[in-house]
Formats: sequence, C-alpha cells, structure tokens
Amino acid sequence: MPKEKAREDRVVIGWGDSATLGKSLARKTNTAFAPLSVSVFPDGELLVRLPVPVEGKVVVLIQSLHAPNQKILEIVFAATTAKELGAKKVVLVAPYLCYMRQDKRFHVGEAVAGTVVARLLSRYIDQLVTMDPHLHRHASLGEIYTCETTRLTAADAIAEFIHNNVKNPIVVGPDEESLQWAKRVSGDLKAEVHVLSKTRYSSEKVNIDFDSEKSLEGRGVVIVDDIISTGHTMMEVVKDVKKLGAKNIFCIGVHGIFAKHAYEKLRQLNTKVVTCNTIPHKSNRIDCSGILAEALK
Ligand code: R5P
Repeated sequence: MPKEKAREDRVVIGWGDSATLGKSLARKTNTAFAPLSVSVFPDGELLVRLPVPVEGKVVVLIQSLHAPNQKILEIVFAATTAKELGAKKVVLVAPYLCYMRQDKRFHVGEAVAGTVVARLLSRYIDQLVTMDPHLHRHASLGEIYTCETTRLTAADAIAEFIHNNVKNPIVVGPDEESLQWAKRVSGDLKAEVHVLSKTRYSSEKVNIDFDSEKSLEGRGVVIVDDIISTGHTMMEVVKDVKKLGAKNIFCIGVHGIFAKHAYEKLRQLNTKVVTCNTIPHKSNRIDCSGILAEALK
C-alpha cells in the first residue's frame, strides 16, 4: 500500500527522552515529527528553537513531565514561540503530569505546586492531554487547569497485559487512591481485587497492612498503582503478599519514575516490574502510544 501523505495542518514536536514516543505518536496520527532544539548557554540559560514553520498549524508538543523543572520552562518557551509565529493551536501531550501529588498545603507555608503548575501551563497551551494523572483531592483536571484537558487511562492496556501474561491473577491496589485503576483493571479481567489502606509517614516511609489469612500460593499477584516513585509503596505490599505465600508477583505502575534505585530494589525482591511507556524505562512493556494517538484523532 502506498504510504499516506502526512497531514500538513499539524506537526508533532518532541524532544529529550520523549522523542521516541513522539515519533510513534506522529506515525500513528499520520503527522510529521520534528525535534525541538534545546541548548543551554554556559551561564545556564536556555535557548529553545522550533524546528519547522508552524503558521496556521496545530502544534502538538510532547514531553513527559518527570524531572519536570527545566521542561516546564522549555514548554513555556516553545508554546509562546509557536503562538507568536502563528500556530493555530498548541496542544501539550504530557503522558506523565508532574506535581499532581502536591495538591494541598501539607505544612504551613508550602506551595501547592500542582495548582501553580496548572495555572502556569494553562496560560501558554490550549489543550493538555495526559494519562492517568494523580487526581486525589481534585475530582478532575478542570478544577485546576483552565485550558481544555483530556484525561486518558492506561487501565485497559494494563488489563490486557495481565490477561496475556498472568495466570490466575489477583489484583491488589496499595491504597484508596489506587481503587480507580485496581477496580477497572480487575473488572475487565473479572479478577478478585483487594484495595489496601496506606499510611504515609514521609516520602520514603509508608505502612500498608494486608489484613488477610488468605493463602496467595499459586496465584499471580498483581500490584497496580499509578506511580512507582521511591518504590516503598510497592515494597511494603510485596512484603505483605509474600507473608501470605505469594511467589509470582507483578508490580505494575502506569508511570515508572524509579527514584533512588527503586527498580533495582523491587527486582531484588523477586518481583516482575512492568510499566507503561509514559516515562521511558527498561520496564516499559505496555505501549500507550495508540491511546494517545486515538485522543488526537
Ligand atoms: C500516591 O498515593 C501514589 O498513588 C503512589 O502510591 C505513590 O506515589 C508511590 O510512591 P512511592 O513509590 O514513592 O511509594
């Protein structure tokens, strides 16, 4: 079949470690891909340059917002420039959306960074497309973002992965917030689900009890969460399910941040660690580019 001509009213611009996902998104939406040029001057200031003319086009910037601080500025520079040069619309595809866990002033004087970032980005972009944002104290992105927002979920893709790779699965959500993923994933699989309750003492100290006498021997235990950061949440559950006899344990996260060697620590506990490709990592086994592409179509 002759290759379809790429549509000319839109361009996908990606950079850094989101370029691979960006190329895949461009291919799936029949759009040209171009990499944003970003360089850093000796004094630390940034130089951002759009790689192609954007006049009259929809500009799709794709950048996953793990390690977000410099990226936020790059997006502001790129989006502003695109608008100045006549772009019709600027869409930000941020498969992982940062600062969402900082959704309240936990201690006096703290910045509620989730809201600050939402207000900032909303000033420069027209639409945000993201995957499984960490919505806990906010029911929707619209409560903090004033631009158009599209919230996607990897739940069906995770359910398909479990269906194809795990025998006799039981789905475990580490805390109340994971209920939405655990339920949707287990519902599709018609699998048993347990949602536990977590107490967090600090960013690296959590406590979770799996209060059950149930034997997990012979079961494929799938712990599902939106984010794996330090991995302590997963590690706590792994310890609990092992006490109940579990041997075949999967830790599945939508977004694998893996701070502080979390991946290696989880692997040392004899678990299989699987993530979606919202953040590039060797644990990525679930491809979300199709879901992102559908949203852009
Ligand atoms: C928080 O409630 C999230 O859903 C995750 O459970 C949490 O971010 C995981 O963090 P960590 O891997 O550092 O325990």
